[in-house]
Amino acid sequence: MLCLIWKKVSYTWNASGWNQINRCNFLTGKIVPFQTSFMKAIICSRYGAPENLQLKEVDRPVPTENEVLVKVHSTAINDYDWSLVRGKPFLYRLMFGFFKPKRPIPGMELSGTIEVLGSEVKTLNIGDKVFGDLSDYGFGSFAEYVCVHENALTKKPATMSFEDAVALPHASLLALQGLRDIGRIKQGERVLINGAGGGVGTLALQLAKLHGCEVTGVDTGEKLKVMASLGFDHIIDYKVTDFTKTGESYDLVLDCKTTRSASAYMRALSPEGRYITVGGQLTSLISLLFIGKLLTLFSKKELKILALKPNQGLDTIIDLYLQGKIKPSIDGPYPLEETPRLIRYFGEGKHHGKVVISVGLQG
Ligand SMILES: NC(=O)c1ccc[n+]([C@@H]2O[C@H](COP(=O)([O-])OP(=O)(O)OC[C@H]3O[C@@H](n4cnc5c(N)ncnc54)[C@H](OP(=O)(O)O)[C@@H]3O)[C@@H](O)[C@H]2O)c1
Repeated sequence: MLCLIWKKVSYTWNASGWNQINRCNFLTGKIVPFQTSFMKAIICSRYGAPENLQLKEVDRPVPTENEVLVKVHSTAINDYDWSLVRGKPFLYRLMFGFFKPKRPIPGMELSGTIEVLGSEVKTLNIGDKVFGDLSDYGFGSFAEYVCVHENALTKKPATMSFEDAVALPHASLLALQGLRDIGRIKQGERVLINGAGGGVGTLALQLAKLHGCEVTGVDTGEKLKVMASLGFDHIIDYKVTDFTKTGESYDLVLDCKTTRSASAYMRALSPEGRYITVGGQLTSLISLLFIGKLLTLFSKKELKILALKPNQGLDTIIDLYLQGKIKPSIDGPYPLEETPRLIRYFGEGKHHGKVVISVGLQG
């Protein structure tokens, strides 16, 4: 009897036979239309190689009071994804889940369109085109749909493409908060960007150029060509030259890949120079924190670590973008199916700029 009722609710008969029209969402217990209850997503069910990731059909999430359901247009790969998928460094598992990821869908940036509003959402509407960094509220953007707290989203200007929008929040704000908020960048300074060929470096160059700075970029391989075309004044291949040993000094160093000692960075700074790292090897960062404090005690030089405030300063970035003063450098877009390959491509540093995935794109 129950089977018959279920079939009546869930299936309809037409020329092609029985077709499922409704199904039960087991997360919510609600009967929902079949076609709108599933989504494709990249699932990380255990830590390991990116190749273990699977593209699966899973239940579409349902927003809580302060969340919206976003149909993802584009998403992007970040250092966090490379770490989350492999569960390395081990310390990150305190955040991601000790034995397996607490949230199985990675991805922390998105641009897309709002389809459903939570009951308490005040600032956004159905149909709004939005973008943002989700990391304050979780992950999940490597999917066709994701539920996001409204505070993590900003309305996308009509003239900004979904691909440009997704490439901006994380990288541009690491660059902006590093150069402007902590680094106090000044007109005409000598700036060095270490790890300059990636998402952060290519945007940091453009921000430093707005201040009339002379900018040196450090990276390697194919990225050096892209960097030359983007307008770096000087380019150093880190596999050939150690920028802390050239005898040159810089007023401001923005480092995306901290690998050296605090004393090496002190050597590369002008008398009132500031060194800001946005990320790198954990051991180097810890030593920078403690030894750096001691080294700068009797000096006007500064060694600082940036902790990103997600989405803070996005208004400035939007203004600069709309004035044509900054533009993200994009590697892609690629289809969602290619995410496992792209995470390895990113992790092995073969990319340039920001690796962007457009979810509707066919492989
Ligand atoms: N502070 C925060 O709150 C926060 C939050 C999130 C992320 N982050 C950090 O921010 C950084 C993101 O940068 P991104 O997105 O621009 O990364 P990215 O795209 O991977 O760029 C980093 C670049 O550095 C290069 N590189 C590697 N080793 C280097 C070395 N020894 N010297 C100079 N360059 C080197 C890489 O090239 P190859 O690998 O090809 O050599 C790559 O081109 C990451 O370190 C991430 O951990 C910080």
